[in-house]
Amino acid sequence: MAQSIVPTLVLPSPDVVSLKGGFPYAEMAKKAAQLFCNATSHCATRQLQTMTQYGPENGDEYFRKMLADFLSRQYQAYVLADELYVTAGATHGISLISSLLFEARDNVYVEDPSYFRVFKVFEGYGLNIISVPTDPEGIPSALEETVTSHNAKPATRPLTETKPYKGMIYLVPTFHNPTGKCLSLDRYKEVIAIARRHNLLIVCDDVYNLLYFTDKPPTRLYSYDTKSDPDYAANVVSNGTFSKIFSPGIRLGWIEAPYKVLKLIAESGLAVSGGCFNHTVSCIMASAISLGYVDSSTEEYRAALKSHCKAVTDVFRRELPKEVQVSQPMGGCYVWVSLPDGMEAQRILDECSKEYKISFQVGNKYVLCDDVFNTVM
Ligand SMILES: Cc1ncc(COP(=O)(O)O)c(C=O)c1O
Repeated sequence: MAQSIVPTLVLPSPDVVSLKGGFPYAEMAKKAAQLFCNATSHCATRQLQTMTQYGPENGDEYFRKMLADFLSRQYQAYVLADELYVTAGATHGISLISSLLFEARDNVYVEDPSYFRVFKVFEGYGLNIISVPTDPEGIPSALEETVTSHNAKPATRPLTETKPYKGMIYLVPTFHNPTGKCLSLDRYKEVIAIARRHNLLIVCDDVYNLLYFTDKPPTRLYSYDTKSDPDYAANVVSNGTFSKIFSPGIRLGWIEAPYKVLKLIAESGLAVSGGCFNHTVSCIMASAISLGYVDSSTEEYRAALKSHCKAVTDVFRRELPKEVQVSQPMGGCYVWVSLPDGMEAQRILDECSKEYKISFQVGNKYVLCDDVFNTVM
């Protein structure tokens, strides 16, 4: 009998109010499609000869310049074109780093709870996932202890020029998925110090940074790994994507990292044989940035998510029992709801889906051990 693949990233049906994931809402998805078509025509007049070629491994020079300008404007901090590497989205960036810089049985430390889909990426490469408890400020109160205890075990492999790190710390430091939390600036320094002491690579999944509800973008952990520090050893990368600020369907993202890391990706068989990981779309997005489309869609997402978040948290605070705690995110897509003992998220979800056609994610998905009963959206 023929077998078929059952997709998990399907859009919710229009009669369901879905609080489940970071999808673009319908109006923005349509707008992005129109802008993408305009940008394609613009790109064809500028780059017809080269836009459908393989493209340089690290990405088209003009695109990386446009992206660096866009990010510098949006982060209000300098981003260098030479520290950018084109990927096919944030998931691809994590996948590249996991497969090219690490080996099966290497340790990856993740926050508990953490973005659940990334577990599958790490598992796919045989990485040893270790969850680290968080407190209201996020990681790393327990991080050093956990790292020290794991590093005390005999190494499973020697460090080499192409796999120079002992392990990875995977973080969503800003507007965390699923808790919405931000790591404090003091914690930035602590986590970098731990990474330097233990020779770990911090992978910051910076996919929500530009979706802030305040008047200024948050500072990135990446900018704290200062090159002039005497113990600097290139311990941080920032993983970005257009998925949350323009469109996930275009599958375009970037890794911002020091040369030491980018060189290892550029010299991989994948890059040497295939060139740029998404050249044509990156050329089109260079046009989209130059036409101002990405600045305006980022601005629109920011404003819309801020008002969506207010609407949802207002209703939750008004309608849910007092013992239920509702987070107050300052940006991003996620609200974390903590239920008191005896209230079970799965039961509430079943009832909401049946009675009200409302869906959300159950918190247990985001932890490696099944020990909490939180709900998130
Ligand atoms: C933390 C985090 N990383 C990565 C992704 C996926 O990004 P992309 O579509 O660029 O692969 C998501 C999407 O929800 C996410 O929340």
